[in-house]
Amino acid sequence: MKVTVFGIGYVGLVQAAVLAEVGHEVVCVDVDQNKVDNLEKGLIPIYEPGLTPLVNANFEQGRIKFTTDAERGVDHGEMLFIAVGTPPDEDGSADLKYVQAVATTIATYMQSHKIIINKSTVPVGTADKVIATVSDTLKSLNKEFTFDVVSNPEFLKEGAAVNDCMRPDRIILGTQSAKAEKKLRELYSPFNRNHDKIIVMDVRSAELTKYAANCMLATKISFMNELANLAELFGADIENVRKGIGSDPRIGYQFIYPGCGYGGSCFPKDVQALVRSATGVGYTAKILEAVEAVNYRQKEKLFDYIMSHYQGDVKGKTIALWGLSFKPNTDDMREASSRVLMERLWEHGAIVQAYDPEAMEETQRIYGSRADLRLMGTKEATLSGSSCLVICTEWQAFRAPDFEMIKTHVADQVIFDGRNLFEPSLISEYGLHYYAIGRGLSVKAQQSASISS
Ligand code: UDX
Repeated sequence: MKVTVFGIGYVGLVQAAVLAEVGHEVVCVDVDQNKVDNLEKGLIPIYEPGLTPLVNANFEQGRIKFTTDAERGVDHGEMLFIAVGTPPDEDGSADLKYVQAVATTIATYMQSHKIIINKSTVPVGTADKVIATVSDTLKSLNKEFTFDVVSNPEFLKEGAAVNDCMRPDRIILGTQSAKAEKKLRELYSPFNRNHDKIIVMDVRSAELTKYAANCMLATKISFMNELANLAELFGADIENVRKGIGSDPRIGYQFIYPGCGYGGSCFPKDVQALVRSATGVGYTAKILEAVEAVNYRQKEKLFDYIMSHYQGDVKGKTIALWGLSFKPNTDDMREASSRVLMERLWEHGAIVQAYDPEAMEETQRIYGSRADLRLMGTKEATLSGSSCLVICTEWQAFRAPDFEMIKTHVADQVIFDGRNLFEPSLISEYGLHYYAIGRGLSVKAQQSASISS
């Protein structure tokens, strides 16, 4: 089938690549000529496992094409995906200007019936706005064509995006058009094996489903972070509590890992956007407001531990930092906890010596060259001359470090772990201080630090 994807970002590119992989003919349209040129040379703008070979193989076989020519894109596809960004506005609500711009473009060039599919995460009611924009534009151009607007939200996770797209656990179709449903069922049939994963519903419910999924997951995390903070104060160990509650299948083990807060392009933005949308209909979304507030506070957690350990003075200290991306297997730094930590440390005169397996270039791009940021080639290199070690991201490569080496090179022999990678008893065998999130030993370490001072 002929498909066009507007927006070659994370969602658009992965979706386009997997559609091409199963045999559909895909044209990707983006306004960024540089991005298009690079993709044609095989240079993929994001780091995502498995994506580069998938895109390049399909490009070589002519099943995926890249262009800035929107007219060509509209002409090509009977199904037109909108996968452009919906960045937060100043007040946290989703900014729909890119979505609306694509809707106008589609109406401007369409010469036949089109199925317009919204993949971007958009507030409830956006499909109606897209319908209005397309209708108004068609009318102003004296064109009379029919079209459908479908909500088909994406649930991929960064770092596992290709697999999530290839093997979706559900495919949500928000449409009441039998014609559009039939076409989309055909489009997705290669992904709809074993059992029917397609759930058809009205368009507003589909739009809300996307926010509901992300907000539920963010709620689980903030809930656990709140409990972790309580566990610390009660002298309990959140890791035991986590295992204890996760064994109940109604709760489950997933997304109950406490840590230094959630980041990424989805959870922070989507929680905020739903809070703002709720306000727009005269409702205060109290749970979601709390989810956001708890996460905001949790991102300060490592900095608080460090300040408490050093009695509020980190000026001139060199802090080794492992992990910059918001989670492993991505170079994405959006809303990463590491950023909050680094910025706080810099405000207080510390020097950060950091390493990340993938996000070094991105860090450099965001912060540029500055004397208080040293990007090191290996995790070991960050340790030399450091006072303490901080871990912000749970990359596999950080899970079994050489603790003797840490003890030798980290002057104050202390680890601040924002992802609870180690057993506190193991760390103390090496004679290291260990602060983790919601674990009893963090409290003990804090107490012994203040007693010794
Ligand atoms: C998320 C959703 O999982 C995905 O379904 C949706 O389509 C987009 O948003 P993503 O942002 O890629 O995906 O990352 P995810 O793996 O969900 O992690 C988000 C953040 O939560 C990370 O910062 C991670 O470290 C944190 N997290 C996750 C926790 O702190 N604890 C957990 O138990 C799980």
